[in-house]
Parts: sequence; C-alpha cells; structure tokens
Amino acid sequence: MFSYHLEPNLRLELLAPRHAQEIFEVVDANREHLRPRMPWVESTQSVANVEAFIATTLQQLAGNSGFQTAIRAGQEIVGVIGMHKIDWQNKSTSLGYWLAQKAQGQGIMTKACAAYISHSFTQLGLHRVEIRCATENTKSRAIPQRLGFTIEGTIREAEAIDGRYLSHVVYGLLSSEWQKTLSQA
Ligand SMILES: CC(C)(COP(=O)(O)OP(=O)(O)OC[C@H]1O[C@@H](n2cnc3c(N)ncnc32)[C@H](O)[C@@H]1OP(=O)(O)O)[C@@H](O)C(=O)NCCC(=O)NCCS
Repeated sequence: MFSYHLEPNLRLELLAPRHAQEIFEVVDANREHLRPRMPWVESTQSVANVEAFIATTLQQLAGNSGFQTAIRAGQEIVGVIGMHKIDWQNKSTSLGYWLAQKAQGQGIMTKACAAYISHSFTQLGLHRVEIRCATENTKSRAIPQRLGFTIEGTIREAEAIDGRYLSHVVYGLLSSEWQKTLSQA
C-alpha cells in the first residue's frame, strides 16, 4: 500500500480496491453535504459504483496521467483528493477534492492540496496546477486562495449539478509562484 504522511495522524493513501467499502460509507453518510457540490453523488449508489471509480483511477495511474488518494485522519477515511489528469504536453494538471462534513475546518484539504502541488512541481516537473471551484463554493475557493493561486477567470454555467448550472472560477498556480508561497509560509 502506497501512503504519504501529511502529519503523524493524517495521510494520503493511493486509492485501491480495498478502499471501496469505506469510501462508499463516507459518501452515503454525507449525501446532503456533497450533493450540491459533486456531480457523481446520485450515481454512487453501491460499493460496486465506487469499485468502478477506483478501477478508472488505477487506469489513470497506469497511463501516467496522475493519481487519486483517500485521505485518512486517524483510523477513518475522511475524503478523497486527486488529479483530474496530467496534460504532459503543457506540463499542467488540475486538482479535485472532497471532505466529509465533520472533517472540515481543520486545514486537512489545504495540507493535502499543498502536498499534491509540491509533488506536481518538484517530483513531476509540472509547470502549472489549476483548481476550478463553483463561484458560490466559498470553502473550496478559500483553499487555492490560501495557497497563493491567482484567479484567471470565470467559466459561465460550466457544470450541471443538482438541477442547476454552476459557474466556475478558475484558479491557476505556476511553479515559480509556488516557491514564493513556500517562502512566505
Ligand atoms: C471544499 C472542502 C474540501 C473545504 O473544506 P475545509 O475544511 O473548509 O478546507 P480545509 O480542510 O483546507 O480547512 C480549512 C478550514 O480549517 C481552518 N484551519 C485550521 N487549521 C488550518 C491549517 N493548518 N491550515 C489551513 N486551514 C486551517 C481554516 O481556518 C478553515 O476554516 P474556516 O472555513 O472556518 O475558515 C469541503 O467543504 C468539501 O469537501 N465540500 C464538499 C465538496 C466540495 O465542495 N469539493 C470541492 C469542489 S471544487
């Protein structure tokens, strides 16, 4: 099992089939919280659905197009973070993430994003990391803002979710800018 410690009791675990049951239970317990934000909530109705998702993430990894991890705080999985894909031509990736409601407010996702960004720039040699957030998703927007991203624009009505079209704010961070964020931390 590949895992990375963010802190002694907080780690990222590369998604594997053994996570499916536990992730399904977290999603199932957080439907009301996740439904307005994540488009896949309604189609996640069984452990088999999560197994199918995990299989796609393993194909993504095998195709050298990024990876996805469970976030474990203590004994419990509390969320997932990953790269949507890697655009190797332009040395660019984008991040997606979610947390269980009760795991919010502790900086867990900001730390997880920081680890992905460092890995992207330092280990993978990427040039750019992007995060897109619904305009109204203030908690999500606060994460790239905390990490020194720049607002690059708004994509209008970009995502159909929970019966509405949501506009996305595009946040971008370049490798040279990340060095500045780190030196100010
Ligand atoms: C988006 C989401 C991950 C944000 O969760 P979050 O807990 O606000 O984010 P973090 O884990 O980075 O925690 C930040 C909070 O912890 C606090 N915090 C405590 N210690 C901290 C630390 N060391 N570093 C940063 N923040 C810290 C911050 O002040 C902030 O609290 P506040 O919102 O009261 O100001 C979560 O709301 C979620 O999963 N929502 C549903 C799915 C979703 O929207 N996904 C994103 C789609 S783009």
